[in-house]
Amino acid sequence: MPATVVIGAQWGDEGKGKVANLLAQGADVVVRYQGGNNAGHTIVIGSEKFALSLVPSGVIYPTVTPVIGNGCVVDPKVLLDEMATLRGRGIDPDNLRLSGNAHLIMPYHRKLDAVKERYLGRNQIGTTKRGIGPAYTDKYSRQGIRVQDLYDPGILASKLEDVLNEKNLILSRIYNTLPMDPEPIVEEYLGYAETLAPYVTDTSLLVWNAIKGNQTVVFEGAQGTLLDIDHGTYPFVTSSNPVAGGALTGAGIGPRDIDRVLGIAKAYITRVGTGPFPTELDDEIGERMVEIGGEFGTVTGRRRRCGWLDMVALRYAVRVGGITELAIMKLDVLSGFGSVRIATSYEAGGERYDDFPRQQRVLYGCTPIYEDHAGWDEDISGVRSLDDLPKAARDYLARIEELAGVPVSMVSVGPDREATFLPA
Ligand code: GDP
Ligand code: IMO
Ligand code: MG
Repeated sequence: MPATVVIGAQWGDEGKGKVANLLAQGADVVVRYQGGNNAGHTIVIGSEKFALSLVPSGVIYPTVTPVIGNGCVVDPKVLLDEMATLRGRGIDPDNLRLSGNAHLIMPYHRKLDAVKERYLGRNQIGTTKRGIGPAYTDKYSRQGIRVQDLYDPGILASKLEDVLNEKNLILSRIYNTLPMDPEPIVEEYLGYAETLAPYVTDTSLLVWNAIKGNQTVVFEGAQGTLLDIDHGTYPFVTSSNPVAGGALTGAGIGPRDIDRVLGIAKAYITRVGTGPFPTELDDEIGERMVEIGGEFGTVTGRRRRCGWLDMVALRYAVRVGGITELAIMKLDVLSGFGSVRIATSYEAGGERYDDFPRQQRVLYGCTPIYEDHAGWDEDISGVRSLDDLPKAARDYLARIEELAGVPVSMVSVGPDREATFLPA
């Protein structure tokens, strides 16, 4: 049975939650492998709408084991609140399993995220202020506190004291803000320890056993390729690896355990937060995308920046993400635009870039070279097969496929789970 990685092929919010949830139907295990509650994954099932930030989308199905892998950073209060909200809506999250190796987001991470952004001023990244960057920073500087530390109160208190000695100097002397007291933090986190205990396990072993047992496993990425710490538009990125490689380290499996990588892309492109964006539309067309596409952040409510589909970036995402097929989302949003554009290359300083430029400076000053395609006016949100799409929409998908070099294996024409079809 297949192990599929679902990854964002743009700057996040492509519709990963919807697709992961679709694939979770009939799956056994759904794993989040990176990121934290900076993610906002929306699932619409009839009149029900769920916005999940940490719990994998598969939680909706009682037969699925949702897993939060070692590569994630976990804010325990947010996790428990999300589980409580799910329970309140009749969904039992008790199958959830949490890696003891996942790192915890601590109160000082959230505080540092906020004060650092303020300090950066005009150059700020526009983070979600959920403490993601500072938590990963501590992971890599080996000062992080892991889920398993909750079960060793002596170690928890001693690690926290050490780390706060340093953080408090940073908070007070660099950022001119109040230091934090370790005792209430230890007390708060030991409280979470007890509640979380039934869920904590060796998730790498769990996933391995599922794969070896021929079960169906879905890896649900958060963020997207262009927000990847290594491959994205650094420093305007998140602090983890959303690309398929991240699924390996973030779940604790090897490359041969993955059968396919489904790259999720909108039929146009959006970005929330700061950073370069070659095809951004600062005009009424971009405004129309925001309005029709409902392009406001699930987590922060921020307006998303919108632009035409960027195939230079999407080809790059296919390459660095090992994407084997694409899901094209929100095709319905492009109805009624008259004509639609696809950027096929960039031009900068008299040079043409067919490949994503290795020098990031180019991304700021480049002019996208567009292909113009006939648009369509019909409302396509009720369409459930490729044949029923207007010819212009079919041609648009065919051109994406051609330029990407991988097949489009799923098309989405509305937020609802049902508003999806497989072209094949
Ligand atoms: P994710 O972070 O990748 O899971 O994506 P988000 O949930 O943040 O953002 C995608 C938004 O688009 C959500 O509000 C979805 O309900 C919505 N959506 C998903 N697919 C479609 C689609 O095909 N058409 C429309 N109109 N909306 C969609
Ligand atoms: P999903 O999973 C879109 C962006 C933030 C900011 C940058 C760094 O819903 O696609 P962070 O808080 O991670 O340090 O912020 O990354 N960002 C996202 N943008 N979708 C997301 O997640 C995002 N998660 C982070 O806006 O620009
Ligand atoms: Mg989102």
